Amino acid sequence: MINPYFLKTGIQSKLKNELLVKAEHFDQWIDYFNFKLMPVASEMIQKDSFLRELNQIHPFHCGVILLPPMTYYDWHVDDQRGVCVNALLNSHGRSFCCFSGESIKVSGAFTELNYDVGEYVIFNNQMRHCVFNFDKERYMFTIEFYENKELLNYEMLLKTFYEKIK
Ligand SMILES: [Fe+2]
Repeated sequence: MINPYFLKTGIQSKLKNELLVKAEHFDQWIDYFNFKLMPVASEMIQKDSFLRELNQIHPFHCGVILLPPMTYYDWHVDDQRGVCVNALLNSHGRSFCCFSGESIKVSGAFTELNYDVGEYVIFNNQMRHCVFNFDKERYMFTIEFYENKELLNYEMLLKTFYEKIK
């Protein structure tokens, strides 16, 4: 049975080191929804075969999201994104990303997405999730498809991944 929340692809980002260095020296973070964002130039996509192939099938733009120390994203589903691809760029500190299939209540069960640094993860933005970040900056590479949740969802992207990319 497929994991309804995320798929760890086993594919390492070829941009990881370059983006991490850029992000660590970047000082013009943009406020984007509830994120601090560093846009990544579309030319960078061409340097990474996984992103290049994905972009040909489902075009996207991408960036690095900074989560400052001791901050969180509360439980939510994304407004526009049906699905995305993430890659954690650093392992400097502790952070937790969790999913839950249950409705909102005071207590309940969750599943952790335990990122391996640099590995692309297909992420179901329409399942409830939250992030807690502890004592260090957390840098996450993420993509946003031009197709929003009405046009592209997690199951569709998994199909693309298994049939056309993997
Ligand atoms: Fe989210």
